[in-house]
Amino acid sequence: AARQQSGSRALTFKAVPPNKLDSLIVPNGYDHSVVLRWGDEVVPGAPALDVHNQTGARQSKQFGYNNDFVGVLPLTSSGKRVLLVVNHEYTNEDLMFPGFTSQDALTVEQVKAAMAAHGLSVVELERVDDTGEYRVRDNGSRKYNRRITALATKFDVTGPAAGSAYLQTAADPKGRTVIGTLNNCAGGITPWGTVLSGEENFNQYFVGGNEASADVKAKLSRYGIDTTNRYPSGSRKWERADERFDLAKHPNEANRFGWIVEVDPFDPESRPRKHTALGRFKHEGANVIVAKNGHVVAYMGDDERFDYLYKFVSDKKFEKGNSNKAREHNLTLLESGTLYVAKLGYTSAAEIDGSGKLPSDGAFNGQGQWIKLVSGDQSFVEGMTAAEVLTFTRLAGDKVGATKMDRPEDVEPSLATGKVYVALTNNTARGTGSNPKADEANPRTSNRHGHILELVEDGGDNTSLTFTWSLPIVCGDPADPATYFSGYDKTKVSPISCPDNVAFDSVGNLWISTDGNALGSNDGLFVTPIEGPEKGHLKQFLTVPVGGETCGPFITSDDRSVFVAVQHPGEISGASLENPASNWPDGDFAKPGVVVTWRVDGGPIGA
Ligand code: FEO
Ligand code: CA
Ligand code: CA
Ligand code: CA
Repeated sequence: AARQQSGSRALTFKAVPPNKLDSLIVPNGYDHSVVLRWGDEVVPGAPALDVHNQTGARQSKQFGYNNDFVGVLPLTSSGKRVLLVVNHEYTNEDLMFPGFTSQDALTVEQVKAAMAAHGLSVVELERVDDTGEYRVRDNGSRKYNRRITALATKFDVTGPAAGSAYLQTAADPKGRTVIGTLNNCAGGITPWGTVLSGEENFNQYFVGGNEASADVKAKLSRYGIDTTNRYPSGSRKWERADERFDLAKHPNEANRFGWIVEVDPFDPESRPRKHTALGRFKHEGANVIVAKNGHVVAYMGDDERFDYLYKFVSDKKFEKGNSNKAREHNLTLLESGTLYVAKLGYTSAAEIDGSGKLPSDGAFNGQGQWIKLVSGDQSFVEGMTAAEVLTFTRLAGDKVGATKMDRPEDVEPSLATGKVYVALTNNTARGTGSNPKADEANPRTSNRHGHILELVEDGGDNTSLTFTWSLPIVCGDPADPATYFSGYDKTKVSPISCPDNVAFDSVGNLWISTDGNALGSNDGLFVTPIEGPEKGHLKQFLTVPVGGETCGPFITSDDRSVFVAVQHPGEISGASLENPASNWPDGDFAKPGVVVTWRVDGGPIGA
């Protein structure tokens, strides 16, 4: 939260060209190392990875699969020791278990191992000498090291929907304690030193939706849960290990996922929480800023085609300082407040034809308003109680006419300027068939490459009810006329496709990682100044191995280290553990892992 400088610093590194190499590629003058990979020890004494003998118990002590969000929190003011907090979004059983044939053929113990490979990891790191490199601390108490899993970790539910009828189950009749977290995608670090994590595609873990009543089916299907088949194809078959994933037997279990989760990595005994006040949808993540008036504001995206952008404003104000009292207070900030959904207005919608051509005023831009959905126990949506609005937030957004966006992924305010950046990853269904047509905020039909939206709250007040917005980057090959880089010389810009996560360095440069590069090269990490004459001068900083997605990213506050998570390397149709499509990082079968990158001469990254 000490990032006060605004503006930008010239980015002089030589951009990494698009490539299809099965390596992690960084610019000249930089180096990288793998900090942690799937199966590495997290809890001291964890057994080594043995793919022939993985069990829930073993995996519960090891680094999980498909690392996504990366947060680095200092333990010492020098940054000598830090806590790495990582989400494990999902599993690729076909790449994890030898002889894989189908989810149905997995042993129950393998299913439990997959459940334990979901969740989060907290791991203490230490700086290597006086460089930007970090490695796992393998001596001392390592008391913070912790696995949070879908298999066994208990979560407290907070906020107005906690205890509601929608959250009650046979195992938890009070509706206030949930086992596990699912599909944790992006996240954020709060100003009080906790980590937020978004439960995203939780739908794929549930079966039995076909047995629900018509009313319940409508709700399930709005969240992507199959309501036609008893055992939908593509489900994870977890009900074989734990029947709560069968909605025919436990109809409310799905309502207990799809929340924002808060983890306090500095208290290894603390029970993580699911905050219902922030609504339930396919949460990509949440990022918090303290508004000028002291209330905290969390910005959030619902990653689905034609879904919405949200913000939460706390009832209570942030308390400064490091006292225990301040921290105790700040830990309650996300338990009560007001949830809004975004409605974007346009200045020149009539000129939008879906081709990506700029309107005559030279910019995709407009105004917008935050529509109040629920405040504490009070609903502002006709026909829905507060608990309903929070538990079935997508339906509330539908009712109030929120703007249907091209898959809002990471949404993050710049702490340097207070402006908010939204990664809209793609939407190939935009403008096709009876789907919503292109509009000024989502200006391309069959949007394959995505775009970045900048949102500026009126009066520079993050609690404002109105804002302006613009699109600083419309992604793709810069040679494609349907791209835009804030008017910057496109011959100097790197191709970019499918922006997913965003982050900032200490001077406010915008870092963007990609998922699913539709231009055919590997995914990567990019950076651009977002203020001043260099705005839009986007350059590729690294690329990840074949089949991988670039997640994280995280730039340390001293600008000396860039962390990324390499998610699902080798995730190519037909690949297996025995015949991997990627050999990263160890030369044998592919393993997701977290990488740190630093400048060999010790200087600030990017400069
Ligand atoms: Fe898990 Fe929306 O990416
Ligand atoms: Ca993501
Ligand atoms: Ca982010
Ligand atoms: Ca994604």
